[in-house]
Amino acid sequence: MEIIKCLDYDDLSKKAACIFIDKIKNIEKPILGLATGSTPLGLYKNLVKAYKDKVISFKNAITCNLDEYLGLDEDDEMSYHYYMKENLIDKVDILKDNFHIPDSHLENPKIYDEILDKIGRRSIQLLGVGENGHIAFNEPNSFLSSRTSIVKLTENTIEVNSRFFENETFVPRKAITMGIKDILNADEIILLANGKKKENVIRNFIKTENIDPNFPISFLKLHDNLKILISDMDIE
Ligand code: GLP
Repeated sequence: MEIIKCLDYDDLSKKAACIFIDKIKNIEKPILGLATGSTPLGLYKNLVKAYKDKVISFKNAITCNLDEYLGLDEDDEMSYHYYMKENLIDKVDILKDNFHIPDSHLENPKIYDEILDKIGRRSIQLLGVGENGHIAFNEPNSFLSSRTSIVKLTENTIEVNSRFFENETFVPRKAITMGIKDILNADEIILLANGKKKENVIRNFIKTENIDPNFPISFLKLHDNLKILISDMDIE
């Protein structure tokens, strides 16, 4: 595990973009595991810029996203479909058939497992982290062999994510998420964490030697090529 301390959010976004740009340039068919949330927004801006500047092309890239709220339509501004199209997919030359994200109306989550199996191991997997240690929407009480599933969001996640919605009552109570097993199925994992609100979770992750299902980020200790980029927090 490598912890990369960045000067600020801008620096974190640029450093993360450099890592992705390197993969996209040097791998013939890069398979990119992508994430949502506020933290990767700066990274996506940098990737769109690199595409516009003709530094990279997504023509040969395949992407798959981690998760989606259950029940939101694709064109709902709060859906992760919308987020991805708005911030990356519609702004670069990726082939639409190569962009994958769990279907928010999916009744059988195994369909996404089949897609993941077909795509294969990711070249790189991007992650954020929730304040309670969730990764994707794998909330406390997750397990290592989990694959795509429909999960109930915790009160904490509903409250924290309500900042994106009109108010807390609009936050979907359930989501569909890639499981821990598939998150770890990547050659490299890059986790981004910015700001004081993530300080505790990152500190606890660094400190812990145990894999604790109640602290899902701890499963990442099992991966041998993990980089954590942090900014705006006091971690020694
Ligand atoms: C959501 C997503 C996670 C993400 C987390 C942190 O719950 N499902 O994948 O890591 O939010 O988001 P933010 O970057 O906005 O703090």
